[in-house]
Amino acid sequence: MTVTIVGSQLGDEGKGGIVDLYGDDVDVVARYQGGDNAGHTVVHEGEEYKLSLVPSGAIRGKVGVLGNGCVVNPRTLFDEIDTLQDRGLDPDVRIAERAHVILPFHRVLDGIEEEVKSESDQEVGTTGRGIGPTYEDKAGRRGVRVGDLLDPDVLRERLEYVVPQKRAVVEDVYGLDVDDLEDPDALDVDALFEEFRDFGRRFEAEDMTVNAGAFLSAAIDEGQNVMLEGAQGTIIDIDHGNYPYVTSSNPTAGGAATGTGLSPGVVGGGEIIGIVKAYLTRVGSGPLPTELGGVVGDTPGYDEQGEGENEELANYIREEGGEYGTVTGRPRRVGWLDLPMLRHSTRVSGFTGIAINHLDVLAGLDEVKVGHTYTLDGEELASMPATTEQWARCEANVRSFDGWPEADWQAVADEGYDALPENAKAYVEYIEDELDTPAYAIGVGPGRGETIVREQPF
Ligand code: IMP
Repeated sequence: MTVTIVGSQLGDEGKGGIVDLYGDDVDVVARYQGGDNAGHTVVHEGEEYKLSLVPSGAIRGKVGVLGNGCVVNPRTLFDEIDTLQDRGLDPDVRIAERAHVILPFHRVLDGIEEEVKSESDQEVGTTGRGIGPTYEDKAGRRGVRVGDLLDPDVLRERLEYVVPQKRAVVEDVYGLDVDDLEDPDALDVDALFEEFRDFGRRFEAEDMTVNAGAFLSAAIDEGQNVMLEGAQGTIIDIDHGNYPYVTSSNPTAGGAATGTGLSPGVVGGGEIIGIVKAYLTRVGSGPLPTELGGVVGDTPGYDEQGEGENEELANYIREEGGEYGTVTGRPRRVGWLDLPMLRHSTRVSGFTGIAINHLDVLAGLDEVKVGHTYTLDGEELASMPATTEQWARCEANVRSFDGWPEADWQAVADEGYDALPENAKAYVEYIEDELDTPAYAIGVGPGRGETIVREQPF
């Protein structure tokens, strides 16, 4: 069977921890979208590993698959694999032949477009990893796929079409000189061909490429357990998120089917677990109706409501929760839990269960608030409106909960749900009731063992 893990908010909900928690019963972990914009830290046998592309399960001896919905930067991938091998591990990573390749010029274009947009305060605040430009080329039918790296003639043909076009964009649209770029080879057909042909040889030599849908279906037919791991979160989904402040793929559960080649029936026949952080964080631009203020730096493109208010509280939560980006190190914006957002995410992905993380971070506060509904133009809304401009005008109608004290969280995790402080239980039960979805797991600390496990999905 499959278990699909989906971020229900803006990414950074602690998906990796839940993948890890249920990982013992898993044979194969497959990512279905995104690329090296994601980041997770895995602690295994006392060693810490920071990864952005290699699925965390691969560190624990599982097969890790990057599905066709992913965009793969082979430089990052092989850096991570080499580092893991240097540290004595032998990760088994398979890459979909249909996945698209992030080429060096995609990063260059990501940077240039953000720079140009910033002149009119329209930048997205991307991770700068070339994600958007790679998906653009995929949709534009001019991308290079992993399978193309294995065939030199096809690779050269693709590069000879796409590279002159990108050079023209850099020079004629943006008015820049390619030779003045930090890495002019990023737009040189011969240099790209040599480097990426070598990556292709390595993929071939290590037998790393697969037809992902066929590979995963065969694993399921053999009775293996497959976990489908989304990166990022629902509100930065390109279709269901707050466009244009989104990533360029589908972190929601539908993406698990299109991004792996498993059918919607297979994905929907399994469990779909929404990962919920007990409060909100956001990196990058865009609205956040329950924002606590304390915004660090310039965050254009969102309503200024809340900025500066409750700054101390935001800073407290940011420090307690270690809310700094894994990939970029950027401080994250902080807000209260937003129920209209979660109702939207639950509907879009059809969560069969949720996991609530970081409940311990809120311990010690006198009062914990949530955005229960919104008011937009005098009307009460239970879910998010479809446009970002409307969302930015939403005012959160806040509900207040009595806070809960600090506890020995390891002991709470060991004893189980009943050991949670009463007020924390009231908070969890409110979320379960509002989403009509049971909490399968509750994270009360960063360690793998600091989780109350109420349900084993496999
Ligand atoms: P991109 O995915 O680099 O194009 O960035 C687009 C938007 O998604 C930006 O607001 C990023 O901050 C956000 N984003 C991308 N990856 C992550 C992630 O792993 N966690 C949180 N936000 C992310």
